[in-house]
Amino acid sequence: MFKSGRILLSAIAACFCIQIAASKSYKCSVINEAGFCFLENVVIDGVQSIQTLDLPRHPILLIKSGAIPNFSKEIYSHLPGVRLLHVYNNTVIRKLLIASSNLSEINVQRNGLLEFDVEPVENRDLKTLTVVHNAITTVPKNIRYLEGLEKLYLYNNSIEYVDLELFTNATQLKVLSLYDNRIKTLDSKQGLRFPSLQTLSLSKNKLVYIPYFFEAFPVLNAISLRKNPWNCQWLESAMAHINQKAIQIARKDATCRDRWVGDICCYKTVLDFLYYLRQEDARQDRNQLLQMAQQNQELKHLLERLSESVHKLEERGK
Ligand SMILES: *[C@@H]1O[C@H](CO)[C@@H](O)[C@H](O)[C@H]1NC(C)=O
Ligand SMILES: *[C@@H]1O[C@H](CO)[C@@H](O)[C@H](O)[C@H]1NC(C)=O
Ligand SMILES: *[C@@H]1O[C@H](CO)[C@@H](O)[C@H](O)[C@H]1NC(C)=O
Ligand SMILES: *[C@@H]1O[C@H](CO)[C@@H](O)[C@H](O)[C@H]1NC(C)=O
Ligand SMILES: *[C@@H]1O[C@H](CO)[C@@H](O)[C@H](O)[C@H]1NC(C)=O
Repeated sequence: MFKSGRILLSAIAACFCIQIAASKSYKCSVINEAGFCFLENVVIDGVQSIQTLDLPRHPILLIKSGAIPNFSKEIYSHLPGVRLLHVYNNTVIRKLLIASSNLSEINVQRNGLLEFDVEPVENRDLKTLTVVHNAITTVPKNIRYLEGLEKLYLYNNSIEYVDLELFTNATQLKVLSLYDNRIKTLDSKQGLRFPSLQTLSLSKNKLVYIPYFFEAFPVLNAISLRKNPWNCQWLESAMAHINQKAIQIARKDATCRDRWVGDICCYKTVLDFLYYLRQEDARQDRNQLLQMAQQNQELKHLLERLSESVHKLEERGK
């Protein structure tokens, strides 16, 4: 009885082994105290390797190394039960699609990633998206479908333009971190509000001002500004607002070529020039008035002298 049972078990095990050998199976190399399952040398390249892909059913996966050049929609169906996915340092990704899934966090770092896109399907599950230390140049328009986003980290990329309107439906967005990019323009619209945004990280960019800064971020409590070519006039009024609302400024500028406003450096740009020109105009106007007044004074003296002479003539004529 026992013996036949054991034979049956080993037969099942043998079948199981064969099946595993045929599929590409990965095991956690380590599970750390925080519950991260570390995976090494994960190579997913081509349809075949996706079909046979077998990843651990673990809530937190951290892929430490490997290559997933085309991180496509199909891969997500091999992540059942995974909540947090991190793809780190040495895992090459060329193309990344954020597909609708049950993941609440996706974090990709240092992958040489040039672009990512988002599946155009409303997604309220993804709360945290981190695409950092990569080389993306644009924020995909479809990011607007990530309506459950609470934290978005896009620092250390090569982004030049961000349209804040894409985040208007992400009403729970608390953290927007865009530092260390090449952002020249933060685009927005009158009346747009980001009702939950508490932290806005903008240092190391090419920003001159933040549009609608005074009304768009009602609960902002931390901001980073250093290393941007801020317009002095804008920065002065922004700083008054920041102080009045007790918003914390993270870190200071170290050096400044132009002018300091608090601990942040600003630049006298075209707008400053126009402003000074206006002051210059006012100065000229004042000088003209002074001159006229002076001329008036001289005229008055002249008239006085004339009337004096007339008076004398009159006296003489009597
Ligand atoms: C990436 O994978 C998707 C889905 O399998 C496919 O449609 C697309 O053509 C692939 N892209 C590249 C660049 O291989
Ligand atoms: C990634 O690389 C950094 C710096 O090289 C290192 O400190 C970190 O431990 C690495 N992380 C992982 C998960 O390998
Ligand atoms: C999300 O999880 C539910 C069950 O919790 C499952 O039915 C559904 O297929 C999952 N969706 C995706 C895209 O994995
Ligand atoms: C920024 O990302 C690049 C990779 O794109 C990396 O080489 C560099 O070390 C990162 N910079 C910092 C300050 O982490
Ligand atoms: C936000 O949601 C509304 C209503 O569903 C929709 O009409 C609008 O296009 C969405 N905005 C963005 C930027 O996706």
